[in-house]
Amino acid sequence: MCGIIGYVGKKNSVPFIIDGLKKLEYRGYDSAGISILQEGKLVTVRAVGKVAELEKAALLANPKGQCGIGHTRWATHGKPCEENSHPHTDCTGEIVVVHNGIIENFLTLREKLSSLGHRFKSETDTEVIAHLIEENLKTACGATPKERLINAVRKTNGEISGAYAYGVLWAQVPGFLLGVKNQSPMVVGLGKDENFLSSDVPAFLKHTNKVLFLEDGEMAELTETGVKLLDKNGAEKPLKPVKINWDQKTAEKGGYEHFMLKEIYDQPQAIEDTLRTAQTDFGKLLNLNTRELRALQQVHIIACGTAYHAGLVGKYYIENFAGIPVTVDLASEYKYRCVPRTAGTLAIAVSQSGETADTIGAIRKAKELGFKTLAICNVLASTLTRVCDATFYTHCGPEISVASTKAFTSQLTSLYALALFLGKAKGNISEASFNSLYKELLTLSKFMADAVKIEYDVRHITKRVYKAPHFLFLGRNVNFPIALEGALKLKEVSYRSAEGFAAGEIKHGPISIIEKGTPTIVLMPADSLFEKMLSACQECRARGAFVIAVTTQEGARLAKDSVDKTIILPYAGELLQPVLNVVALQ
Ligand code: F6R
Repeated sequence: MCGIIGYVGKKNSVPFIIDGLKKLEYRGYDSAGISILQEGKLVTVRAVGKVAELEKAALLANPKGQCGIGHTRWATHGKPCEENSHPHTDCTGEIVVVHNGIIENFLTLREKLSSLGHRFKSETDTEVIAHLIEENLKTACGATPKERLINAVRKTNGEISGAYAYGVLWAQVPGFLLGVKNQSPMVVGLGKDENFLSSDVPAFLKHTNKVLFLEDGEMAELTETGVKLLDKNGAEKPLKPVKINWDQKTAEKGGYEHFMLKEIYDQPQAIEDTLRTAQTDFGKLLNLNTRELRALQQVHIIACGTAYHAGLVGKYYIENFAGIPVTVDLASEYKYRCVPRTAGTLAIAVSQSGETADTIGAIRKAKELGFKTLAICNVLASTLTRVCDATFYTHCGPEISVASTKAFTSQLTSLYALALFLGKAKGNISEASFNSLYKELLTLSKFMADAVKIEYDVRHITKRVYKAPHFLFLGRNVNFPIALEGALKLKEVSYRSAEGFAAGEIKHGPISIIEKGTPTIVLMPADSLFEKMLSACQECRARGAFVIAVTTQEGARLAKDSVDKTIILPYAGELLQPVLNVVALQ
């Protein structure tokens, strides 16, 4: 994932671009760069590291110009270094490209372009785009350089494959930016006498909240005075901007030390906002009538990473309340496995961004198999929501932290609500049970507001264990996916090794990795599986583990002789407790 931004307007573009890149750092931060059109010449400044490094370099170089593009990178092809940072140029140095995504056929194209005399300066897939545009310009039709550029870019799009969104600037067409989208996000901000191109809205939200979400295959032409949208055949399309109601403050850190912490604290609100709209009858949302809903035979949940863990919890919810068999697949696996074409299948894609290529690819496959498709997604008008038959939106606001927190708990909340609606529609739970269970669900945000207060207890305990090289997380049943999520979060944020296990499995091998002091975090609320979890603690302790119980008041009392430390959470009920337990692990 990378972040791109472009500005064209009456003012110096540099501050807009640098500021926009800072807002996009959550998309990647190993290097960054800008290209500014200054008096007919492109001035490019790039730096390894965070955008702050680029800012310092830009202050020294001091480029000025009313049109420019910028990029913040998370390396996928070629190591993080200045040569591999974007923007990338062609041989003439007059075309610059910033790109987010992966050009799958870049090696073949690179060979072909090299044989035609193009000289490559980086190891990236992106650079082929710049050279391909240069090559295609040689034969592009058009009365003006602008028309020729558009045609060359269209031809280029026909030659590259993969997921990409990119911005192009050509020194021969001053004050003109082109944006292209295919399976990676691209949005346009419509301002007054200025327009913006970006991977995401926070990059320009300070300046405009009028946003155009590009569809796959579309191209946007930006000048200071306007924006033109072209479909994949090159025909002009009417602009249908959306007004975004997130204010800049919502998109920023809100006074917390870092975005992840802010987003952990956003969770009570995110759950409340998500439930506000969940009242909508899921049957209507799916465009199915009760008879069709009753005919549902199975559910496939498809997702990646943290969203996959939400899907694993969702399986327990749907099977429990609706009695419908559920399979949960990693999207990257679903795409390649043989999925039987079973009638009465509902495929659910869970994704915060709605732009994860594997999830989109997998849900497309489900559609091809004739399944009804539902997205549980956080981003309005994202690709996934346009592919699926229906969308249930989690309402978390923008997720800036790379590590997903509030999106996860909102996904769990949505899946719980969906399971209740499916259960009612299938006749698996009565109207009365539905009402009382839904009422319980509505209290979740209050429990969450108490749960986030454990920060200081957790900080205290982490001081004791943070130097450990390896961590274990154990859970059972509906808390097993939470153990997986705890391990993922720890790996992602601390770069330490961590593994999550179903507590009943440790005796089948994993216990051998426990040594003296191995921090072992055990999810053990005082519920029906408490006794089993207690014996898992004793087994681990016998091997020398330092056991930290994530539990409830009652659990802490019962476990006091079997664990080393306790983190005490409020108790929301057996099936809702995972939503609170994960907060301790975040
Ligand atoms: C982990 C994390 C990732 C995402 C995954 C899917 O903290 O953020 O594992 O959950 O990349 O992303 P979305 O939900 O946007 O499809």
